[in-house]
Amino acid sequence: MKVQVGIIGGGPSGLLLAQLLNLQGVETLVLEKHSREHVLSRIRAGVLEHGFAELMREVQCGDRMDKEGEIHDGFFIAHDGICNRIDLKGLTGGNSVIVYGQTELTRDLYEGLDRMDGNVVHNAKDVQPHDIESSQPYLTWREGDKAKRVDCDYIIGADGFHGVSRKSIPKEKLREFERVYPFGWLGVLSQTKPVSSELIYAKHERGFALCSLRSQVLSRYYIQVPLSDTIEDWSDEAFWSELKKRLPSDVSQSLTTGPSLEKSIASLRSFVAEPMRYGNLFLAGDAAHIVPPTGARGLNSAASDIYYLYHAMVDHYQKSDDSGLMNYSETALARIWKAQRFSWWMTTLLHRFPDNIPYDDRLQRTDLEYLLSSKLAQASLAENYVGLPF
Ligand code: APR
Ligand code: PHB
Repeated sequence: MKVQVGIIGGGPSGLLLAQLLNLQGVETLVLEKHSREHVLSRIRAGVLEHGFAELMREVQCGDRMDKEGEIHDGFFIAHDGICNRIDLKGLTGGNSVIVYGQTELTRDLYEGLDRMDGNVVHNAKDVQPHDIESSQPYLTWREGDKAKRVDCDYIIGADGFHGVSRKSIPKEKLREFERVYPFGWLGVLSQTKPVSSELIYAKHERGFALCSLRSQVLSRYYIQVPLSDTIEDWSDEAFWSELKKRLPSDVSQSLTTGPSLEKSIASLRSFVAEPMRYGNLFLAGDAAHIVPPTGARGLNSAASDIYYLYHAMVDHYQKSDDSGLMNYSETALARIWKAQRFSWWMTTLLHRFPDNIPYDDRLQRTDLEYLLSSKLAQASLAENYVGLPF
């Protein structure tokens, strides 16, 4: 079997690229380790920047996003008992974000792939790239007890942080940059009316909190917790009580609580692997980089990789122009590092760092005071939050 582009991983990155390429007549095969049900059971963030939404429309998967997703023109930063609004639209000259869950988006992408009869193998076990330095790389995997192989021109590693792609690059050819934060986020999804129609990012001496939503009847809340905590430590009652303590009193008084539909703790990490290309293997999305969720950049960073890869592949196949492929790693990383900087900054601004010395706390407070007193500083925040141009 032969395809032009073999894609490891059927998350948002792999699915989006497969469809963009298929629509341009480039043949792809997606190998996904898990079942579709498993992939669609993962609850992840849900803030899309304009560029991502455009890609969803380009692959004809944007209808539900445009119907059910919510356009958000701003969000709040809560601190010291009050809320300050960041006017994304006003500060960026008309830009906003779409709140639409990653789970829904992934479902739309799978349905799109079905409609175009795209090639996807679920439950592909032991996927392994081979001969990636050569011009004839290939992929092997197992389907049940059958051994499979596909030859490719290019292999895309879109298999997330724990995937096999990045690990198949020789250690001495890869440089990894990492910061692990000394806390996690405890997240709760609940079938309740969101406390605010716009997101609230709350800085509090007890720790950070976030009020987000999936729809007007589905809320998503988070609180910063120590890494040693487990979900068994947090009953629903304990969660709601702690969340309320971290929000301004008028907000917590109007908070509707209810049973959690999902509850999980995620650790926070910043990570970049360089380069994003080795031979004919190209890394994209979480396989190459991770951000803490504070600036809502994770999914959007994946989208920018896909944007660059897509254009590079189309230039190669349709115009015999390889400059996009040659420059992919450099171009993608330039934008990735800006998203890294922004996510690190917003995380640093709003969380309680257990090892901070008093000097650090004063600087953190000053950073927030400066932000809230300067329209230019807010414009920089807004510019990054809605997404830098590709
Ligand atoms: N073989 C095949 N598939 C694999 C393998 C493997 N060895 N390892 C992992 N996968 C699959 C996972 O099961 C998953 O479905 O690759 C997919 C990777 O998907 P994601 O982790 O969602 O990564 P990505 O598609 O890059 O999405 C970007 O943005 O909001 C962030 O972290 C969030 O998932 C999100 C990401
Ligand atoms: C979410 O809704 O899950 C969410 C929103 C914004 C973030 C992080 C997570 O910054």
